Amino acid sequence: LEQDARALLDGLDPAMRLDDAKGRLNALKDARVGELQGALRSLAPEDRRDAGVAFNRLKTAIQDALDAFAARQAAAAGHGPALDLTMPARHTWRGAVHPVTAVIDEICAIFRELGFTVALGPEAESEWYNFQSLNFPSDHPAMDVHDTLYLAGQDGAAPGESVLLRTHTSPVQVRTLQRYAPPVRVVIPGMVYRRDFFDASHAPAFAQLEGLAVDEGISFVDLKATLAEFARRFFGKTKTRFRPSFFPFTEPSAEMDVQCQVCGGSGCATCKHTGWSEILGSGMVHPAVLEAAGLDSERYTGWAFGMGPARIAQQRHGVPDIRSFYDSDVRFLEQFAVPS
Ligand code: PHE
Repeated sequence: LEQDARALLDGLDPAMRLDDAKGRLNALKDARVGELQGALRSLAPEDRRDAGVAFNRLKTAIQDALDAFAARQAAAAGHGPALDLTMPARHTWRGAVHPVTAVIDEICAIFRELGFTVALGPEAESEWYNFQSLNFPSDHPAMDVHDTLYLAGQDGAAPGESVLLRTHTSPVQVRTLQRYAPPVRVVIPGMVYRRDFFDASHAPAFAQLEGLAVDEGISFVDLKATLAEFARRFFGKTKTRFRPSFFPFTEPSAEMDVQCQVCGGSGCATCKHTGWSEILGSGMVHPAVLEAAGLDSERYTGWAFGMGPARIAQQRHGVPDIRSFYDSDVRFLEQFAVPS
């Protein structure tokens, strides 16, 4: 068998796939091993041990012959030993920036070009920063335990001092103004939390991105011009429109819409046939907020905005269900992989 195996391998076309060579060899072995086993059985017990040793030597010899064939083949191809170029490549997964992270990064980069820096604040926030400093009346429904996640074990906490998971990034407006004297221009990305159940358009934890500009002589014109310029840089050529709105911490307040990213403004299911998608809430910083931060509201004015990067990613990619961004399903996420 050993000789036959060598002869077989020597006679093979060196260009033959290694798998095929192995197949031929196995066929030869199968044909012969039957005979050999029969021969083994007919041996006297005391001779079987020696025959077993010989049998193993034979197996090693066949393997050696096969290795020699592979090496010859590799050498002929000009490569190192036993590199089987016919082997299918392993699937590699290069990883992707999460589509929500990509939106946050792009928005921060655009505002950086417009003269803003990035500021951060805590996710576990005091009730005062989250609500009172932002001019929420003490009976505002958002402060209810049914809407806001208060941390446990604070029964004795004084008003404003209890700790909660921030429901928006706006408290970082006040923290920033306490820390840095105007002119202030910051964007503030971060996670926020609400006592909501997951559905197609709500998540109990989601990213927000806040913006704040405070200085002497800042007006609503700065707000409109800056946000419209942002929209053009982020979405490409698009019209914007501002609709009056209300927030306790801005006055006046406005929501900004851009032309629907899916239909371009002609009307589709995504924009409920309005042609517009809502992008952000904004407004002139309420004087009470400037005062809460220790600033003279006669001297300084400012504007602020807040947007939801997951909403924007949803519109940008036409993703019908916001939960897709939180499921960590690689089949969804790998669609956003870009060659690096
Ligand atoms: N904080 C508001 C929200 O969570 C958004 C906002 C921020 C509105 C700043 C106006 C100014 O909906």
